[in-house]
Amino acid sequence: MKIFIDSGNLKEIESLVPLGIIDGITTNPSLMAKEGGDYKEILKKICGIVKGPTSAEVVATEASEMIREGRELAALDDHIVVKVPFTREGVKACKALSSEGKKVNVTLIFSAAQALLAAKVGATFVSPFVGRLDDISTSGMNLIQEIVEIFENYQFTTEVLVASTRSPMHIVEAARLGADICTCPASLIEQLFKHPLTDIGLEKFLKDWEKAQAARV
Ligand code: E4P
Repeated sequence: MKIFIDSGNLKEIESLVPLGIIDGITTNPSLMAKEGGDYKEILKKICGIVKGPTSAEVVATEASEMIREGRELAALDDHIVVKVPFTREGVKACKALSSEGKKVNVTLIFSAAQALLAAKVGATFVSPFVGRLDDISTSGMNLIQEIVEIFENYQFTTEVLVASTRSPMHIVEAARLGADICTCPASLIEQLFKHPLTDIGLEKFLKDWEKAQAARV
């Protein structure tokens, strides 16, 4: 399963990419609004660091404007994936942009029916938001299972990009269900490294080694 960073923060991205576990990036208007500087320049820098799919979201709400914005974003770098919200206009824009060969991530997916429609118009990725569903007492992971099953039934090439992840269990469950990608905030990726038994085990190994070295002199 691929792991993307859900962030527009260059420092976070620069600290995680050298680990070798990052396959791409997702941004959204809320994340980019937190960053200073020029939106497009930041996106170009992110693409240069990650060298993988980098989702950049349009802010227009009408299809022709989304298409115009999407073309502009896609022209920034070959790694840009145009992100459009799942609306009637977003679906039209996805159809047009994907027909031109541009990669499109259809976001704000909260039902399997929405994912099916996005796949039908050639989305490269669909982004179901698991955490926001869990927040309203609905299982985000059930949605992932449904979408994975539907895409397998019809051999859609659209990838399931699990978004709005909040805990390591979201990542593990997404991987067990066969989701293609999880996008995670940097803090969540850091959590994936942690296990107290690893820390205790390493401390003991190093102490035992030091003791043995000291006994030899
Ligand atoms: C996905 O592409 C979105 O940027 C993101 O995962 C939303 O997460 P949130 O629900 O924590 O804001």
